[in-house]
Amino acid sequence: MAGISKFRIGVLGSGTGSNFAAIADACLAGRIPAEVALVVSDVEAAGMLEKARERNIPATYLSPGEFRAKLSPEAERTYVKVLKEAGVELVALAGFMRILQGTFLNAFEGRIVNIHPSLLPSFPGLDAWKQALVHGVRVTGCSVHFVDAGMDSGSIIGQQTVPVLDNDTPETLRVRIQAAEHELYPKCLAALARGEVVVQGRRVFFRASFA
Ligand code: GRF
Repeated sequence: MAGISKFRIGVLGSGTGSNFAAIADACLAGRIPAEVALVVSDVEAAGMLEKARERNIPATYLSPGEFRAKLSPEAERTYVKVLKEAGVELVALAGFMRILQGTFLNAFEGRIVNIHPSLLPSFPGLDAWKQALVHGVRVTGCSVHFVDAGMDSGSIIGQQTVPVLDNDTPETLRVRIQAAEHELYPKCLAALARGEVVVQGRRVFFRASFA
């Protein structure tokens, strides 16, 4: 008997894959009405690929090409082709350390999301938890947002706050923010998979509460 086809998420990442694991496990537990159809990394040894294979989720390394901070035009075309062939409807970036450009953004317009370890628009870019400590904020957090051509600049879908404690080091703060990410990202993806997310200009609304 043919199963009911689920909403298909593709996850892109360059690192350890703790957010990917949270997403995949939430899908398996039914908390996100979707499945991770494919995991792609630009880093051959990324822990994320290993975590995917442990879960029997298709996972592949794809060469990023010759640039350090973006995909080459040819690599972008390959990434798009592979994700489309896997039937991916939504691309979730989870620690993907490269800027996406025209070919990719056009192919998945309005269907690419990212998690960032700060309350955007504060502290975009690298090492956001260090930026928060240096700035001396008492509250930081994480943000899930749509991806546009800028750096962590797309419309914000959801945010979760995290306190900054007096004895925090960059590492203790990073770990606390990551724990919040693992709650927030699955919640936002569940809302997206259910079709509850409505975009009006820069603002994002929800048809139903996802708290
Ligand atoms: C996360 O902290 C995320 O905010 C940032 O990259 C990190 C990825 O970590 N964009 P992991 O690979 O999901 O553990």
